[in-house]
Amino acid sequence: MSAPKKLYIKTYGCQMNVYDSERMVEALGGQGYVETQSPDDADMILLNTCHIREKAAEKVYSELGRYKGLKADNPDLKIGVAGCVAQAEGAEIMRRQPLVDLVVGPQSYHRLPAMEQTVRSGAKALDTDFPEDDKFDTLTTRSKAKRGPTAFLTVQEGCDKFCAFCVVPYTRGAEVSRPADRVLREARELVDAGVAEITLLGQNVNAYHGHDGGLAGLIRDLAGIDGLERIRFTTSHPNDMDDALIAAHGDCEKLMPYLHLPVQSGSDRILKAMNRKHTAESYLRLIERIRAARPDILLSGDFIVGFPGETEADFDDTMALIEAVEYGQAYSFKYSTRPGTPAAEKPQLPEDVVTDRLHRLQALLGTQQQAVQARMVGQEVGVLFEKPGREAGQMIGKSDHLHAVYAAAPAGVLGQVRRVRITRSSPNSLAGELIN
Ligand code: 5AD
Ligand code: SF4
Repeated sequence: MSAPKKLYIKTYGCQMNVYDSERMVEALGGQGYVETQSPDDADMILLNTCHIREKAAEKVYSELGRYKGLKADNPDLKIGVAGCVAQAEGAEIMRRQPLVDLVVGPQSYHRLPAMEQTVRSGAKALDTDFPEDDKFDTLTTRSKAKRGPTAFLTVQEGCDKFCAFCVVPYTRGAEVSRPADRVLREARELVDAGVAEITLLGQNVNAYHGHDGGLAGLIRDLAGIDGLERIRFTTSHPNDMDDALIAAHGDCEKLMPYLHLPVQSGSDRILKAMNRKHTAESYLRLIERIRAARPDILLSGDFIVGFPGETEADFDDTMALIEAVEYGQAYSFKYSTRPGTPAAEKPQLPEDVVTDRLHRLQALLGTQQQAVQARMVGQEVGVLFEKPGREAGQMIGKSDHLHAVYAAAPAGVLGQVRRVRITRSSPNSLAGELIN
């Protein structure tokens, strides 16, 4: 038998890319590839890329530049670009960077085995179709290899919302949901391989319609799987948070008390210009309903500062919304012009204004995060232990509310959900004591 070929895959961007990378490794496994953690000894390098902001896209070209030497040393090395930059700039990448042998979009990676053969023959391969055949019809089963206690599972892809700043509807295409029976089968395979927590992924996951009961129906079916202890989902649009999903947060024990619900801005004028199709007030009312169903839910969000036309008064509205919600966690970004999106046509705000607003917004979000963490001290929480800590005898896991938690514990807790009393809050983690 010939030695396995080595695949180095570097993943940028969102959790869906993490999931896609796993599936690409599995797809190329059939071609005799095993994953390696270093590009230096690889036979193939794949960059699974992100196009959401300009900086993310630029990283791809600088990373590719670094592989020049490797390719000079090993002419058989094949280099590929996958993901959303591949989708958006496929042919352009091949023109700009002759090192690249293969370009594959996020909907076409089930064709990687055939593309690999093409590049091995010395030709280039490019596939950025939105093909009729669903990649998941080809990539039906998951690897049986034992895995860690948490996993991502993509249930929905694409987006029909067309927020004025966002490339996702163009790079990932229209909203498509995977049928519930397939998702349930994949979830069972993951649990058989040792997974205790599944995070359901979709660019608009709460618009999932592969189950008669929507995402809530899927979650309730998943909750019936023995051995699956925790369910999470991300990322959601406020307008798709239906009553059934809110109710599930109230009474489905396996659904964790954490919700990432991006709002982007607290100004109705900017929300309208962003084509978000909701107001600050409707978002706040929604949060009230969610908290009525699950009072201890930890809320997370995404914010864009410096959207074209944003005034100081608009920004104050965003700060007021944040004050009103009290987020436990949040992501915030400077607006980044994305070619081909409606907002790209509009005049930009001065960089120093945007930087100043981002700093003020992040200071407020940071204060809220610390306040929410400080309130956890003294509380008893569930923690799913994932790995040993840096200090001897210490294990690290995630709480129900997705806080990183450290505790002195035997290695036997790995992969288990245990009760922990939180004793201390540090900037990005909590410390606790095992109580059972
Ligand atoms: N500029 C800045 N941030 C953006 N996001 C999406 N598009 C852009 C853009 N053009 C942010 C949004 C979204 C998150 C995934 O990325 O906040 O929710
Ligand atoms: Fe992009 Fe999310 Fe808006 Fe869809 S809902 S366009 S993915 S920001």
